[in-house]
Amino acid sequence: MKHIFSVAAASAFLVGASLASSAWAADVAQGKKIVQEHCTACHGTEVYSRPNHRMKSLDMLHAQIGRCQKAAGVKLTKQQADDVVAYLNQTFYKFK
Ligand code: HEC
Repeated sequence: MKHIFSVAAASAFLVGASLASSAWAADVAQGKKIVQEHCTACHGTEVYSRPNHRMKSLDMLHAQIGRCQKAAGVKLTKQQADDVVAYLNQTFYKFK
């Protein structure tokens, strides 16, 4: 699964370079919808907001979403995974 995330980073660059700068906008509202639809079977948002949450960086967050989508039995597109990362980061983790 690891390669998918580096592909995501590479295409983020390509999209940003080839289109208007606003083209690379992860959709936070869409990310929230995906989490509400697919990610509440095992844990709610308490795992993201607990003081000792395990994620320490955006990279870790990407990797965890790779693992958890498998556990959830869903296959997110790169864009959907980016939307989920954007939602979780903006709402809970606030990594730079
Ligand atoms: C099959 C069960 C299951 C499903 C469904 C699931 N997760 Fe998880 N998730 C876990 C477990 C287990 C952990 C680890 C909890 C712990 O460390 O206490 C976890 C942890 C996480 C964490 C890290 C929390 C922290 O400590 O910072 C994130 C982020 C996360 N999940 C995102 C998601 C997302 C996004 C989805 C939907 C695509 C999802 N999970 C669906 C089982 C699941």
